[in-house]
Amino acid sequence: MSGTKPLLEIRNLHIRFRQRAGGEPLTVVDGVSLSVSGRETFGLIGESGSGKSVLGMSILRLLPGSAVVEGTILYDGDDLMQLPKKRLRRLRGGSIGLVPQNPATSLNPVLRIGRQVIEPLRLHRRLSRQQAAAQLLELLERLGLPEPERTSRQYPWQLSGGMKQRVLTAIGIAGRPRLLIADEPTKGLDAIVRKQVVDLLANAARESGAAMLVITHDLQVAAKLCDRVGVIYAGQLVEAGPAAELFARPLHPYTAALLAAAPNKELKPIPGLSPAPGLRPQGCAFHPRCPHAMDRCRRERPVSAAGEQAPGREVRCWLYE
Ligand SMILES: Nc1ncnc2c1ncn2[C@@H]1O[C@H](COP(=O)(O)OP(=O)(O)OP(=O)(O)O)[C@@H](O)[C@H]1O
Ligand SMILES: [Mg+2]
Repeated sequence: MSGTKPLLEIRNLHIRFRQRAGGEPLTVVDGVSLSVSGRETFGLIGESGSGKSVLGMSILRLLPGSAVVEGTILYDGDDLMQLPKKRLRRLRGGSIGLVPQNPATSLNPVLRIGRQVIEPLRLHRRLSRQQAAAQLLELLERLGLPEPERTSRQYPWQLSGGMKQRVLTAIGIAGRPRLLIADEPTKGLDAIVRKQVVDLLANAARESGAAMLVITHDLQVAAKLCDRVGVIYAGQLVEAGPAAELFARPLHPYTAALLAAAPNKELKPIPGLSPAPGLRPQGCAFHPRCPHAMDRCRRERPVSAAGEQAPGREVRCWLYE
């Protein structure tokens, strides 16, 4: 990344969960390093359970007390893991916006939608009551909510899942963050609304010069929205690179399998199951499902190889050693 200092830099992040029954904590994120520079949109893709949301939530220290987090997370030069609680709270919803994955539990059930969107507008952008009310309606409208005024007066339980998802997006971008972490922002949306949300996110980022970390299952959304993409498998970042190149020519066998399994492609499912935390095999975590597995893959964990034939790309696979 041509010498510019990244806005967000994650170094060797490990996240484990203590188990209630005791025993070894389960490793869920396993040595991930990645960086996002200002104005860049970085996409994180990978199967369910691979650790994407846990990684996203760790940035603002929103994981439960059972999580043990090790490594370094630098934001604009600050070490977020050491940052005093008070400064961290000021970042949340302000400089760093979050669109959490679970719309059913992420909204406050006893507050009307309008109040929840207005809060970051007032708090972080210091808008007057009137300005905030106008912004609220504009945001809801741009997110394709058909009756913004009515929606703003409703409670979360009165909205569909897709509507709640969009309200969370409104809250996430309301404070004009410098970094937006959006976890599955298009989940449960039909094609037309999905396009509206993707366009809004892209525009919001462009207009305010924000960086984004977008977690998504939807490879088309990733391809449309992201400058760079990282592929996560069993808690490890197995490949990263410019989105267009990565989608056109995946290097890691897992990335290739993931792309082939996409609904708009061959829809060829990846044989086998992704291993649960605690059951991850030795060597390369993907080797039991990999068509190219060699002896070495069963024994040794691959190190990151920066592709010499492919500048700007990174892959953890013994095929590229
Ligand atoms: N609070 C928790 N306590 C214990 N384990 C957890 C906790 N939260 C998540 N996990 C485990 O961590 C792993 C990664 O979960 P995570 O939610 O990050 O997956 P994901 O990649 O976001 O999946 P999806 O695509 O389905 O959203 C899973 O095995 C999950 O069961
Ligand atoms: Mg998730």
